[in-house]
Amino acid sequence: MENQRLFINFACYYYCFLGCLSLLFSGSNAIDSPQYTVIRSELGVEIRLYKESSWMSSVVRGGTSFETSTKEGFHRLYQYRHGANLNSSHLLMTAPVLTSITNLSSHESNYVVRFYLSSKYDGNALPQPYPELNLVVDKWRSHCVAVRKFSGFAKDDNINGEMEALVTSLDKIWSGKTATIEDESTYTIAQYNASYHLSGRLNEVWINVSGFTADGCPS
Ligand SMILES: *[C@@H]1O[C@H](CO)[C@@H](O)[C@H](O)[C@H]1NC(C)=O
Ligand SMILES: *[C@@H]1O[C@H](CO)[C@@H](O)[C@H](O)[C@H]1NC(C)=O
Ligand SMILES: *[C@@H]1O[C@H](CO)[C@@H](O)[C@H](O)[C@H]1NC(C)=O
Ligand SMILES: *[C@@H]1O[C@H](CO)[C@@H](O)[C@H](O)[C@H]1NC(C)=O
Repeated sequence: MENQRLFINFACYYYCFLGCLSLLFSGSNAIDSPQYTVIRSELGVEIRLYKESSWMSSVVRGGTSFETSTKEGFHRLYQYRHGANLNSSHLLMTAPVLTSITNLSSHESNYVVRFYLSSKYDGNALPQPYPELNLVVDKWRSHCVAVRKFSGFAKDDNINGEMEALVTSLDKIWSGKTATIEDESTYTIAQYNASYHLSGRLNEVWINVSGFTADGCPS
């Protein structure tokens, strides 16, 4: 009984996402990702120094669900990537897909869903999205991120717990040091796998940090 329910849940999840997530990750074997180096690794937390990166971003304001808002934002990115741009071109596949979450109240949050733009599109070569998709390019300067990995599917009922576990570990790592979380109201979920992969999935929770200048983070 329990197994059957689980299967139906999975089947539904699979079906809903198949049209979107799976295709973003298919079509080519060379997956481009933002470049980073690990500068520390402790208590299940990595401090990564990311190089500059550019992201195509889709804002979902006042959403009440991580899963629904991610699908909504992702759908617009998916269209852009598959020809809804002024070049009518298909863009290279990249990973991860990010969802940044900023709480507005106990029920509502702003969500920003992003995919990484390969450095091959630097300069003027980047195809411009159709204006009605409401997408914007975010350029991130080199910065440090604290990262905790988790498996399974990223869902409304587990992401806050992962974020809290990350903050708890950071508090231990930092006890008595001057490093800080830059903005405690915003955190990011990174998803690496298409939805049809039911096992062996990798997700991460990210939060910007500063203060590791001795280790090489920008101040
Ligand atoms: C955001 O809201 C959720 C649900 O109310 C809560 O569990 C979580 O701790 C909040 N996160 C932050 C960063 O304030
Ligand atoms: C998109 O079109 C612009 C203007 O015609 C061009 O400069 C650019 O190279 C094109 N980009 C791609 C990826 O084809
Ligand atoms: C993290 O830092 C980058 C680089 O400074 C910044 O552009 C980005 O907005 C920050 N992300 C969040 C979620 O605060
Ligand atoms: C999920 O993505 C990660 C990171 O790219 C990869 O190492 C892993 O093999 C992928 N899992 C599956 C089931 O493809």
